[in-house]
Amino acid sequence: MEYPFIGNHHSIKKIRELVSMVSDMVLNVLLLGETGTGKDVVARFLHQSSPRKNNKFIKVNCAALPLSLLESELFGYEKGAFTGADKLKPGRFEQASDGVMFLDEIGDMPLPLQAKLLNVLQSGEYNRLGGSQSVKVNAWVISSTNHDLSKDIKEGRFREDLFYRLNVIKIEMPPLRERKEDIPLLVDYLIKKNQQELNMGDYNISPELQAVFLQYNWPGNIRELSAFILRLMMGDNPDNIRAEIEQKTSVPDIDGKAISLVDAASDIIGNSGKVSLKEVKTVAANYIEKKAIDHVLSMTNGNKVKTAKILKISYKTLFNKMGGELKAQG
Ligand SMILES: Nc1ncnc2c1ncn2[C@@H]1O[C@H](COP(=O)(O)OP(=O)(O)O)[C@@H](O)[C@H]1O
Ligand SMILES: [Mg+2]
Repeated sequence: MEYPFIGNHHSIKKIRELVSMVSDMVLNVLLLGETGTGKDVVARFLHQSSPRKNNKFIKVNCAALPLSLLESELFGYEKGAFTGADKLKPGRFEQASDGVMFLDEIGDMPLPLQAKLLNVLQSGEYNRLGGSQSVKVNAWVISSTNHDLSKDIKEGRFREDLFYRLNVIKIEMPPLRERKEDIPLLVDYLIKKNQQELNMGDYNISPELQAVFLQYNWPGNIRELSAFILRLMMGDNPDNIRAEIEQKTSVPDIDGKAISLVDAASDIIGNSGKVSLKEVKTVAANYIEKKAIDHVLSMTNGNKVKTAKILKISYKTLFNKMGGELKAQG
């Protein structure tokens, strides 16, 4: 599969130059930027531009799984490591050996796991859960987040030492509103892509709609643009889309949030290849629950009693839902 990285804006040209400079050095890359700005695209572009392109690109979404599942996903386990571990499961880090380990939404990684990841990156090896033999880390680590990590560090949600480990090369993705001149190019590309991948007919965007596209602020960035193009090509009335965009201009925040849920759903499905809708529901519900808890915890400065009260759950339920995090954070 190809992942073209479209754009002529000087910021995109700079990113292309940077990619060609670093793609044959195995230096950790941190991708920063709002949702939908193309962090996944650049991660894959790095991989495809590198000598590792024929080896695996493994992506793990650090926000979609609770602590213990994320830990076993990353590092694997050995038979008998815990009840139900009936056979050895290699971790994603192992699968990414000689390839790329893409840690998506790293800003959402629970603190105890941040400590473990730092340790693994420093020592270059780790044990599978329940294992005694060490596994060498030989993956190129690319991570990404839409968080403001310096704020997270200041507020104790992200480890500064891990940040320095991951942030050897920093790539900041510009929001679409700062490179609106690329919109026509992206629109053309997205139309062609739908034609090829979904066997759709040709489509022309009306000048009126183009004008609205150029005015809009795109809180969901290219992902949002892509969703509109798809709807238009599926037959949605362009006038309705125009009215919708004009109305959205007043509620960018709510929009941004709705889009990040779409994001989560596609990540959940994309990661596993085959997945039941029931599973998607469970994972999505857990994800939203986790986001809500994190949000209220930050509102209350980490006060768990207050948090439980606001969310109308018992302290014990909150404790359970926070899993290992509560212990490690004191
Ligand atoms: N520069 C680009 N060229 C082509 N497609 C892009 C570009 N940037 C983003 N996209 C498309 O927009 C959508 C969102 O991009 P993605 O990389 O998933 O964003 P992020 O990871 O930053 O949330 C994807 O469908 C992706 O293919
Ligand atoms: Mg992404």
